[in-house]
Amino acid sequence: MVIVVGSLNMDLVVRAPKIPRPGETVLGSDFKQVPGGKGANQADAAAKLGAETAMLGAVGRDSMGSQLIRSLENDGVNVDKVLVKDSLPTGVAAIVVEDSGNNAITVAPGANSGFTPDDLSDMDDVFKRAKVMLVQLETPIETVRTALRMAKENNVTTILNPAPAIELDDEIFSLVDILTPNETELELLSGMDTSNIERVEAAGKHLIQKGVSRLIVTLGSQGSIHIGNNSIRLYPAYNVKAVDTTAAGDSYNAALAVSISKGESLEDSIKFATKVGAMTVTKHGAQTSLPLVEEVEDFDAWYEKNKVEER
Ligand code: RIB
Repeated sequence: MVIVVGSLNMDLVVRAPKIPRPGETVLGSDFKQVPGGKGANQADAAAKLGAETAMLGAVGRDSMGSQLIRSLENDGVNVDKVLVKDSLPTGVAAIVVEDSGNNAITVAPGANSGFTPDDLSDMDDVFKRAKVMLVQLETPIETVRTALRMAKENNVTTILNPAPAIELDDEIFSLVDILTPNETELELLSGMDTSNIERVEAAGKHLIQKGVSRLIVTLGSQGSIHIGNNSIRLYPAYNVKAVDTTAAGDSYNAALAVSISKGESLEDSIKFATKVGAMTVTKHGAQTSLPLVEEVEDFDAWYEKNKVEER
């Protein structure tokens, strides 16, 4: 089983010709309210990819909270451990997606910030049944730390997607089996420049020296890199037309978790995740863009129809 400890948000999405600069107003279009949150997106993606999946997190006692729970449940996620907090609203994310497919996101965490280490203490039973745990940084860091400790105590493989990035201490690094920052998150975590592949490699090696076991850096349309102590391997992205990159990192992480939970090698898991990420960016929204396992099984035929020559 894959367990996901993390956030659930309602995404309030507007499309716009470009992301506004500070102080600027731009006219957008196509407002949509769709289920999101890095944690919930990862859980939803894992279930759609065929894994038995449980979500651990919190929403508020409001209509958005019940919609988020219902939507995960409909997609096959076990939501028994999603708590409903009386005193906090459900988390929301204000998202602008520009015509290039890139986005800017601001999250008001609401109930996600009230998901505490104490809440996890009643959830030991799911850790005992899990093979892989995925966690991100939209819940309090002490909750993340407790989840990582509980996973380690139960021999669960841990994947930390450090988004949105904050500085992390050595204990957190030592509890993580696979760390999956993007290049800007890597820059914050390492304190080093990551503006080209050589610099990404150097920053990655710096984190490995701090105790990170395995490091995969996602690079958007360039693909992802697995950086080891003495090795580096680039897995190029597929050439597809991105309409909305929201949740691409989430589906990549979920695919990695699902594949590893089935006992696949890290190399094959990264290849699978690369396909899932490519399919995600060709559709709009967060959970609305996540592919089903049957669709990924047909990836070659799908790619024939969706590949573009130049990006
Ligand atoms: O990774 C995408 C997600 O980030 C969105 O769904 C939004 O809710 C924020 O958490």
